[in-house]
Amino acid sequence: MAKVLVTGGTGFIGSHTVVELSNAGYEVVIIDDLSNSNPKILDQIETITGTRPKFEKIDLCDEEKVKDFAVRHNDIDGVIHFAAFKAVGESVQQPLRYYRNNFYSLINLISSYNSKLKLVFSSSCTVYGQPDVLPVTEAAPTKKAESPYGNTKQIAEEILQDISAVTPTLNVISLRYFNPVGAHATALIGELPIGVPQNLVPFITQSAIGKRGPITVYGSDYDTPDGSAVRDYIHVVDLAKAHVAAIKRLENNQMAANYEVFNLGTGKGSTVLEVIHAFENSTGQKLNYAIGPRRGGDVEKVWGDVSKSQSELGWKAELDLSEMMRSAWNWEKYLQDNPF
Ligand code: WQD
Repeated sequence: MAKVLVTGGTGFIGSHTVVELSNAGYEVVIIDDLSNSNPKILDQIETITGTRPKFEKIDLCDEEKVKDFAVRHNDIDGVIHFAAFKAVGESVQQPLRYYRNNFYSLINLISSYNSKLKLVFSSSCTVYGQPDVLPVTEAAPTKKAESPYGNTKQIAEEILQDISAVTPTLNVISLRYFNPVGAHATALIGELPIGVPQNLVPFITQSAIGKRGPITVYGSDYDTPDGSAVRDYIHVVDLAKAHVAAIKRLENNQMAANYEVFNLGTGKGSTVLEVIHAFENSTGQKLNYAIGPRRGGDVEKVWGDVSKSQSELGWKAELDLSEMMRSAWNWEKYLQDNPF
């Protein structure tokens, strides 16, 4: 059984990926500093899969601890690196903390394994900014990031590209996520935002359950079908399965180059109002919302060209917006009865 290290494995996308890796027969070891996740997620993963992943609470910025881990776990076949700070707004207020954490952790990880790694990197569609052409392909130029968070994703990709270009033992696949939403069908794991959710779907579910007031739709004067902004929402379980496909590609040495990039989306854009109506129609829950001003830093419309992921990763998103909304709502209801 191949052994995969998942950094940030108790987080939103990380925990769903651990479940899919386990279902696919991989042994999983998680490193997480629990700065933005809850250790109870390990119990939930065990309940879902019947296997408890190994877990070590380590700050990846602690060079000595990461080196010690690499010595004890020198039999890792692949790594999926999720661990990073990811709040866009917070990154604008705390750039040094974001640059330090997101780069030190990545560089410590690579150095501790002497650059001998098959690495899947968690990147983001934010590297595209507002694309000139839609749907956006992996060949599109990256644009100046709107936030230090987005900049850390762009620069991390460049770091990985530069190292892997001269290091045959470092094989890297960067996965550019569009908008991950939803939760596991069991409603035992899902998104656990800290404080007031900045992202649309967790705010919707918290508003629907009465934890928050009305939703503000940030802008209705965009050049889109109903004036609200367009994004490519992807179910977190589909996203998790794409990570298993990437690990398999690395494991079987199927890469076309030592550094590869794939878009992970559905290839379909939805407006904010379409998401709100999809939630109401699929859950039967009426939402209170009002139109407000645009949010600074938002792009108008973005959705992915996912043909490369389909042809080369052999992966395609299968779950639709209604299932994304239903699963997110079921998770919110589970949290109400089982607070973390
Ligand atoms: C989606 C749309 C908002 C809240 C973020 C990160 C990005 C990536 C995906 C990691 C936008 C609108 C939101 C609300 C609203 N994450 N909105 N009312 O900003 O597209 O991307 O998640 O890689 O890095 O930036 O996601 O969910 O915040 O917003 O109208 O209360 O919903 O304006 O149009 P975003 P989001």
